[in-house]
Amino acid sequence: MKRNTVLSCTAAFLFVATAAAHGVGTPTPAQRAVDYRQGVYHAIGWNFGPMAGMVKGEIPFDAKDFALRAERVAFLSTLPLEGFIPNSRVGKTDAKQEIWDNMDDFKSKMKTFQTEAGKLAEAAKTASAVDALKPQFGKVGQACKDCHDKYKED
Ligand code: HEC
Repeated sequence: MKRNTVLSCTAAFLFVATAAAHGVGTPTPAQRAVDYRQGVYHAIGWNFGPMAGMVKGEIPFDAKDFALRAERVAFLSTLPLEGFIPNSRVGKTDAKQEIWDNMDDFKSKMKTFQTEAGKLAEAAKTASAVDALKPQFGKVGQACKDCHDKYKED
């Protein structure tokens, strides 16, 4: 029993020492927040890209696929805000300090994005031609841009 305790303490020490030497181990809450919001934005970009391709005529319009992606983006738009916790401008991040200095404005830009993405998802349910979706798609794209211009490093 005593020997086991000594062994597991040694094992625990070695694990921590190794993890520290490799710079791994449990990420801090700030680092997890960065990973979380970037992951969500990647998922948004993944779904937004093909819709942009259809709007530009680079990819044939597929109403069902467009509607599915619009639905996903509308849902995903509700997620990133939670990842902008205080003091989480750490590691590899493109988030500007201005976000935390103007949190009300940042939230309002997020809200606009959610509203416009919701409208696009709604319109996409019944649209049979891409032309009908172009104006609303443009508003969602503008919402991305309005926020990135002010709050994201390029
Ligand atoms: C309210 C602000 C806001 C809105 C709206 C917004 N973004 Fe972003 N986006 C950010 C910020 C801030 C980052 C940087 C996050 C970080 O690196 O910590 C980012 C990062 C990204 C990234 C890069 C992720 C990475 O790790 O490289 C992509 C892709 C992206 N956004 C796509 C979009 C698209 C597409 C839209 C609209 C459909 C959008 N964003 C709307 C603020 C926003």
